[in-house]
Amino acid sequence: MKAIIPAAGLGTRFLPATKEQPKEMLPVLSKPVIQYVVEEAVSAGVDDVLVITGRGKRAIQYHFDRSLELEDLLERSSNTDKLRQIRAIPDLANVFYVRQGRPRGLGHAVMCGAPHTGGESFYVMLGDVLVPHNDCLPRLQAVHERFGGSVLAVQPVERQYVSRYGIIGGHEIEPGVWKVTDLVEKPPINESPSNLSIFGRYLLTPEIMRILPRVEAGRGGEIQLTDALKQLLRTEDIYAVVMDCVGYDTGNVLSWLEANISLALDTEELGHQLRESITRLLK
Ligand code: G1P
Repeated sequence: MKAIIPAAGLGTRFLPATKEQPKEMLPVLSKPVIQYVVEEAVSAGVDDVLVITGRGKRAIQYHFDRSLELEDLLERSSNTDKLRQIRAIPDLANVFYVRQGRPRGLGHAVMCGAPHTGGESFYVMLGDVLVPHNDCLPRLQAVHERFGGSVLAVQPVERQYVSRYGIIGGHEIEPGVWKVTDLVEKPPINESPSNLSIFGRYLLTPEIMRILPRVEAGRGGEIQLTDALKQLLRTEDIYAVVMDCVGYDTGNVLSWLEANISLALDTEELGHQLRESITRLLK
């Protein structure tokens, strides 16, 4: 399967850090978020990744390309561990790029990938959403194989935050799997069909590419993927899988901090020291 990684958004929630730097290149520990996303795709068997980029996103292309000067330097200084890490990046997957002329919403960004995906189902993985455990895409795939249709990863959120996300409505058909009957992009609390938020990982059937060109601007004046999915419901089934791990929306400063702390606590080099630092800071 192929994956589309939309990465053309402007990152306004993270200014000024994202003024000249793509939000997808912000580091979590020492790795840019988008590298985690590509690694997650690869571990689910994806070998063809299309990144939707735009103005100011050149660093992403450079990151997945070779850096001969850097390799030379690391080789001469016998820094073999770092050299191995740097050389592995361009070999991760075949990464392709399409530019979205101007940011017109997630739905429009996905539509820019239509010539690349052809008539096949594909994953959409938001380039600033980090999912630390690698079982999310395989779970979407498993539900797609059993029930057919498109499948979305969802995560419960506190009701007061529903207006930050795309929200699904529907009924649970087995533990953790929902049949979707409604979708709303960023609803006000009193109009939200549930507290299950769409969380940055989708397995979509090719029909969505036929719907997207007809979708009118919705929330925020943008072409919303959620609105296209709502139209898709008229002709195809959509399912949702409740993720059993925490995902991080790293375009948001608090969530980015949590991602850093949570991943660091899990490492041998930093975990112990960080626990001590946090205890000291909390005193
Ligand atoms: C996008 C989607 C939204 C989804 C969210 C997940 O919104 O439109 O449905 O819940 O990503 O992070 P954005 O955060 O780009 O405004």
